Amino acid sequence: MNTYIGIDLGTSSVKLSLVGADGKILKSASRSYPVSYPQSGWSEQSPECWYESTLEAMGELLLDCDKASVRGISFGGQMHGLVILDENDRVLRPAILWNDGRTFKETDYLNTVVGKDVLSQCTANIAFAGFTAPKILWVKENEPEIFAKIKKIMLPKDYLAYMLSGSFATDFSDASGMLLLDVKNRCWSKEMLSTCGIDESMLPTLYESYEKIGTLKKELASKLGLSDHVSIIIGAGDNAGAAVGTGTVNNGSCNISLGTSGTVFVSQDNFFVDSSNALHSFCHSNGKYHLMGCILSAASCNKWWVEDILGTTDFRREESECDQFLGINEVLFLPYLMGERSPHNDTDARGVFIGMRPNTKRSQMTLSVLEGVAFALRDCVEIAKQGGVKIEKTTVCGGGAKSPLWRKILANVLGIPVLRTEIEEGPSYGGAILAMVGCGEYSSVEEATSSLVKIKDETKPEPSLVEKYEKKYQLWKKLYPALKDVYKQF
Ligand code: XUL
Repeated sequence: MNTYIGIDLGTSSVKLSLVGADGKILKSASRSYPVSYPQSGWSEQSPECWYESTLEAMGELLLDCDKASVRGISFGGQMHGLVILDENDRVLRPAILWNDGRTFKETDYLNTVVGKDVLSQCTANIAFAGFTAPKILWVKENEPEIFAKIKKIMLPKDYLAYMLSGSFATDFSDASGMLLLDVKNRCWSKEMLSTCGIDESMLPTLYESYEKIGTLKKELASKLGLSDHVSIIIGAGDNAGAAVGTGTVNNGSCNISLGTSGTVFVSQDNFFVDSSNALHSFCHSNGKYHLMGCILSAASCNKWWVEDILGTTDFRREESECDQFLGINEVLFLPYLMGERSPHNDTDARGVFIGMRPNTKRSQMTLSVLEGVAFALRDCVEIAKQGGVKIEKTTVCGGGAKSPLWRKILANVLGIPVLRTEIEEGPSYGGAILAMVGCGEYSSVEEATSSLVKIKDETKPEPSLVEKYEKKYQLWKKLYPALKDVYKQF
């Protein structure tokens, strides 16, 4: 049986899955790496470290496996990160990540001086601090000597694809998050390139996510014991990859990802922009489109609270006493640890706990973190609703989706059934499926997902809990506007 490797280049680790053509996961391997926060609100990672970690994990993945069966490799990668290379293909500086908030000035310039209308016309989106174009402007302004040396601009997974194949390529789903792509027409926007002072030769060739960009370099193939006919398929941004991995490819279907970030992803057959540009309007990895809201801190809030503050890694134990407070928790939490993208677009926003009393329990604090993230995702769902998008149910994936308590909270805060797929490795599984399509195993992404992706379980909303959470959400919603000015003074 042919096999395929899906690589999820995440923010906390790279996760690899070896998947058979029948859709079964044969083996997984991962390597963690750090994020560096050189200044408040900044976040960076080393592209070289991504590559080394990927090769290490690949070595482990392939140990004692039938290497001759591997036909293709593809990716789901953290989006928006700026990777820049010089004329000798040397990385010029650490990658500036999707949740980095340093570009507030450049974002403001793009939205107010260039203007949201122009941006929306050229790219279908407005500027958010995490997007790639504001980062290019930041480097131009703050590190002109580095800017002058830029020969190649790429996204995180595209760096891996380049190192593995030698092809300078990207895909439409990931490129959509650069604010350089004319999303509607699936081509680079000449206006945006000139706004950023860059040349089209610095940007990768554009492909659909399921297209082959080359083959594994000979020296790597022999190092890994693979054939040098292994195809490299460009893959997708991690959210579009997770959408494939969870079967979110038909018009109106929704997936929520509870990873480091939290996203609400709605697949669309046709190009659509909401009137306020509050949701991202991006290309999908099946050749169509999607809408997305992104909160910058989701499972990362829980990780911070449980590991860094409570000093334990026993997440389930911390959650075990929360049930009694469901819907009646007096503690509320704003999850803005890295500022917020959707819907506030505010790099100054910060995390907040409110409502504690002398008898407040540790479990109420823990619960408030899970609830705060669910409320922030509800904010994104509300915007979709205002734009006329109906969400009747959703799949959920990412580390946070493993928590039955969090799934229950989500189902009741959103008032819709929350489904889990049998295989939960969203972006890496999606990557493997894209590799299968690129290698001809299936004729389309839709055909592949309808035969491979199966639903495992469903958490239904309970009317009385939905009602309680509705009241809590209405109260929670008042906190950000009340604190907006305070945030500016930190
Ligand atoms: C999406 C986004 C995040 C990253 C996380 O716009 O910024 O979901 O892709 O890896």
